[in-house]
Amino acid sequence: MTIHSPGRRLRWWILLILLLILGLMLRLVLTGSEGGSPAGPPPKIERPPSHYLLSEEKRALIEVLEGFIADLQTPTHLSGAERIATLNRSLNRSAAILEPASQIALGSTAVFKFPLRRMAEELSELDPEALQKVSKHFTERGYRNGGESWTFDPLEEVLYQLAFHDLDYIQPVHAMQIMACEVKGDREPIRTLLERQNAGDYTKADTVRQFFTGNTSTRSGWRQMRRALTVLDPTALRGCTWAELGYGTGQIFEAVREVVGPSGVVIGVEIGPGYEALVDRISRRHALAWGEIKLVRGELDDCRLPAESVDIVHEAGIHVGVGTPETLERETIPWLKSVKKALRPGGIMVLDDCGYPSLEGLRRVMARAGFEELKVVDLSVAGTPATQPDFVAAFRKPVGGARTLPGP
Ligand SMILES: C[S@@+](CC[C@H](N)C(=O)[O-])C[C@H]1O[C@@H](n2cnc3c(N)ncnc32)[C@H](O)[C@@H]1O
Repeated sequence: MTIHSPGRRLRWWILLILLLILGLMLRLVLTGSEGGSPAGPPPKIERPPSHYLLSEEKRALIEVLEGFIADLQTPTHLSGAERIATLNRSLNRSAAILEPASQIALGSTAVFKFPLRRMAEELSELDPEALQKVSKHFTERGYRNGGESWTFDPLEEVLYQLAFHDLDYIQPVHAMQIMACEVKGDREPIRTLLERQNAGDYTKADTVRQFFTGNTSTRSGWRQMRRALTVLDPTALRGCTWAELGYGTGQIFEAVREVVGPSGVVIGVEIGPGYEALVDRISRRHALAWGEIKLVRGELDDCRLPAESVDIVHEAGIHVGVGTPETLERETIPWLKSVKKALRPGGIMVLDDCGYPSLEGLRRVMARAGFEELKVVDLSVAGTPATQPDFVAAFRKPVGGARTLPGP
C-alpha cells in the first residue's frame, strides 16, 4: 500500500476542500459580528423620543404623570403616610413645573389637569387637609386653562367623574395612558387600547380621549345658570322649588343649590335609566355643594311631578323642538302640559338650547300648552354663523290670583 494511491489522494482533496470551506465560514462569522451582520445582536439606533419636540415643562409633567400611572398600576405596600408623602411630592413637583411656565409655553396643559386632579383626589381620601393645601397652592398661582381655573368647572368635573368612577366607563389608568400618549403624540398605545376596546375590553376610550382635549369646557352647569339668570330675577329665587328637567349628569345642581339656597328644594327629573345611580354617586362627593336633591323618573309625555309643586322648571338641551308632527302631538304637547300642571300659578319654565329652529316655533308650541311668554333673550354672538338661533326663553304659567313668581 502506498500513500499515493488514487483513492487516498481523493480523500485528501476532499478533506482539504472541507477545511477551506470551514475556514471561510469561520471568517464570515467573525467579520459579520464586527460589521453588524444580521447574525449578531440588532444594532442600536439612536432615535429621538417621540415627544422630543415638547417643551421642558411638558416633558417634566409627563414624567410626573407616568410616575403616577406606574404607581397606580403597581400594588404597593406603602403605608398611608408614605402614600400621602408620595402624592404630595408629585403634586408639588407639578406645581413647581407649572409655576414659572408661561401659558403659551404650556399650550394644551388642559390634559394635565386630569392627572393632577386624580392625584389630588387620591390625596383627599387619605388626608383632606393636605388636599386643601394643594388646591390653594394651585389656585393661588392662578393656574388657568382657557380662562377657567385649574379647578374643574362642573361639567369637567362630571366628565371626570364619569371617566374615573363609572365602572361602565374606562378605568383611570387607561384613561391616563391615553392622555399621556396624546400629549406625546405617540398614537400606538392608543391604537392598542382601541383594539382592545373594540374587542369589548374597554368602553368609551375615544370619548375619554375627547374629554382630555378640553373641548368640553365651554358647557357647564354654571354657564347654564348664568344664561337662565338673564330671564330670571336671582333675588326672587331664594327658597324656591327648582325642578331640573333632563338633568343628565347633574352638572347644574351645584349652581341651582347656590341660587335657591339651603331652604330651597332641588328636584331632578330624567327619563334615561341609570342616571339616578350615577347622580347619586356623584352627589355623595358633592354633598355640601349640591345639598339634598330629589330625583324623579319622568316620561316622554309626563314629567311626573305633582300638581302645583314647583316654582321654576329649567331645561337645557332636552331639545323640545326636535321631533316629528306626530311626536309633537303624542309626547311634546302632553309633556309641556304636565310641566305646566306641576308649576304653581305664576311659576316659570326656562328653556335653553331647546332645539327649535326658530323662536316662533317655540312660541307656538308653548302657547298651545297654555303658557304665556315672559322673557326671551337672544344670546347669539354677532357675526357667528349659527345653524340655530341661540336664545333662552322664559314662559309663565298664567297666574290665577295666587303667588306670582320671579320674573326679571
Ligand atoms: C343633551 S342632554 C342634557 C343634559 C343636561 N341638561 C346637561 O346640560 O348636561 C338631554 C337630557 O335630557 C334627558 N331628557 C330628554 N327628554 C326628556 C324628558 N322629556 N324628560 C326628562 N328628561 C329628558 C335625556 O335623557 C338627557 O339626559
